Amino acid sequence: MAKYTIGIVAGDGIGPEVVREGLKVLHAASEVYGFQTELVTYPYGADHFLKTGEEFPASALAEMKQQSAILLGAIGDPRIEVGRLERAIIAGMRWGLDLYVNLRPIKLYDARFCPLKDKTPEDIDFVVVRENTEDAYAGPFGFMKKGTPDEIAIQEMIYTRKGTERVIRYAYELCKSRNDLNKLTMVDKANACRAQDIWTRVFAEVGKEYPTITQDHGYVDATCAWFVKSPEFYDTIVTTNLFGDIITDLGAQIQGGMGIAASGNIHPGQVSMFEPIHGSAPKYAGKNVANPLATAAAVGMMLEYLGEKKAGKAIDDGVRSLLTSGKVKSLSAGTHPCSQIGDWMVEEVQKGK
Ligand code: IPM
Ligand code: MG
Repeated sequence: MAKYTIGIVAGDGIGPEVVREGLKVLHAASEVYGFQTELVTYPYGADHFLKTGEEFPASALAEMKQQSAILLGAIGDPRIEVGRLERAIIAGMRWGLDLYVNLRPIKLYDARFCPLKDKTPEDIDFVVVRENTEDAYAGPFGFMKKGTPDEIAIQEMIYTRKGTERVIRYAYELCKSRNDLNKLTMVDKANACRAQDIWTRVFAEVGKEYPTITQDHGYVDATCAWFVKSPEFYDTIVTTNLFGDIITDLGAQIQGGMGIAASGNIHPGQVSMFEPIHGSAPKYAGKNVANPLATAAAVGMMLEYLGEKKAGKAIDDGVRSLLTSGKVKSLSAGTHPCSQIGDWMVEEVQKGK
């Protein structure tokens, strides 16, 4: 029987609740589909930092390198300086494990949850491949004359040939395997950010190896407009780290909201990290009102990645079946108890018994 070691970082805010429900779903899937999991729980996040001063030690990262996958809840807490733990923990894993692909499916499960008029699940089913290790996130930044009227603030956007090429190649491969419209859209803002010319060139160059894939291009501003107007236009999108961050929150809304959007931070063939794309939502923390479906879907993506294809599909089918059943009235926090949605998901997965 296959056995997987999963690192768990529940993190801040609603992280622990949604992870608790996600693990219920993982456990149900392991029983139905016959695999074992060993969970290694890590305490990192705001409470741990305030208690010990520790952010995310190198020893934890070294351990994670030996694991099968990582499940993350959320990081972010108003008591801590903005971005400090996000950079230490989330970016720490993305950089430390070199998770260069951030895979974000945008999938509408039930038209009831779509804020766009007359759009159906057939119209909204695409995937965003967000570069995950470079761009403004990785660029040096700083301030001069801070706090004075002459202050200067800078942050660089960095794109390497290697980083650009590997994520673009991943996206072409994914687009080919999706067998949908065979169209790969590269999203940038090269008309204003001229350094992104490297994306233009690498996209065309790697594209020569994929003659069956139609190369499409969109500027990020226009892409936001098209997400709303014509989401059916998209199949696979590849984009920079920062633009990928932004457009996938918009993508989450057209698929029903942050409560349903999952992601994988992936280095093909190596330990990878899976998480809901929503944040820690401190105002909902500890109230059992958050929607754990995004975390459940992230567990599904993790199992699919680990090669447990049936279990991964069962979770994705379970989300669809639960949402089309009418039981779930809305995806917003507070509609159903977090644990109730977790229980419903467990029932869905157990149908495969
Ligand atoms: C995401 C988040 C993070 C990001 C934050 C928490 C740093 O918004 O995963 O989309 O910007 O990458
Ligand atoms: Mg984001």
